[in-house]
Amino acid sequence: MESRVYLRALEPEDYKISVEWRNDDEIWSMLGGRKYFVSSAYEKKWIEDSIFSGKDVKLAICLKENGLYIGNVYLTDMDMVNRSAESHILIGNKTYWGNGYASEAYQLLLAYAFDELGLHRVSALVLKSNVASLKMHKKCGFSEEGVLRDSIWKNGKFRSQVVLSITESDYRENGKTLMWGDNSLVFSLSFVSNNLSIAA
Ligand SMILES: CC(C)(COP(=O)(O)OP(=O)(O)OC[C@H]1O[C@@H](n2cnc3c(N)ncnc32)[C@H](O)[C@@H]1OP(=O)(O)O)[C@@H](O)C(=O)NCCC(=O)NCCS
Repeated sequence: MESRVYLRALEPEDYKISVEWRNDDEIWSMLGGRKYFVSSAYEKKWIEDSIFSGKDVKLAICLKENGLYIGNVYLTDMDMVNRSAESHILIGNKTYWGNGYASEAYQLLLAYAFDELGLHRVSALVLKSNVASLKMHKKCGFSEEGVLRDSIWKNGKFRSQVVLSITESDYRENGKTLMWGDNSLVFSLSFVSNNLSIAA
């Protein structure tokens, strides 16, 4: 199966779209972070800081068919000694929920993490109530490691988070197969000026 999405570097003008996602209560309710109100100026700076910071990998998810920007994926807390990172995803355009787009974008992120960055372990923290995200991570080959009980104060009560991870060997043995049905997929990485794009 061919991926319907590609990953690219964030662009300065992306904030005009992503600011809407940041202020969406339904999206916020699925994330671990606290509620905050985001102005266009704040989001513009956040995007600019992300573009120029070499610390994390923060990429835009776009549709191959028309280039539409539908979400973001990140690798943060990168530790190149222990070769680990934490992964995050947000499909901000809700029209595209429930159609496998997040799983496809995550596969591209994992390919970049394991095949290019040489990471050994990628983790994720997901609210226990976020069934779609838990299902998506498992579809991509993540395993549950445990639960952080009452770790997040959100919307008037404590909520628990599930810790998940995928190791390089999980990914090579199961991850790609779970998603794509075989291991023959070739990922191409191209660097165009300052713009990284990842496509399958
Ligand atoms: C969570 C999120 C990334 C999922 O994106 P998506 O493109 O819908 O994900 P996918 O379609 O690849 O996979 C989701 C799976 O969960 C299923 N699902 C969705 N909502 C569900 C629900 N309420 N109950 C049970 N299953 C559900 C989907 O059917 C799909 O499973 P399938 O492929 O077997 O049909 C997206 O909803 C999102 O960005 N939400 C806001 C931010 C967020 O929660 N990010 C993750 C933080 S850890």
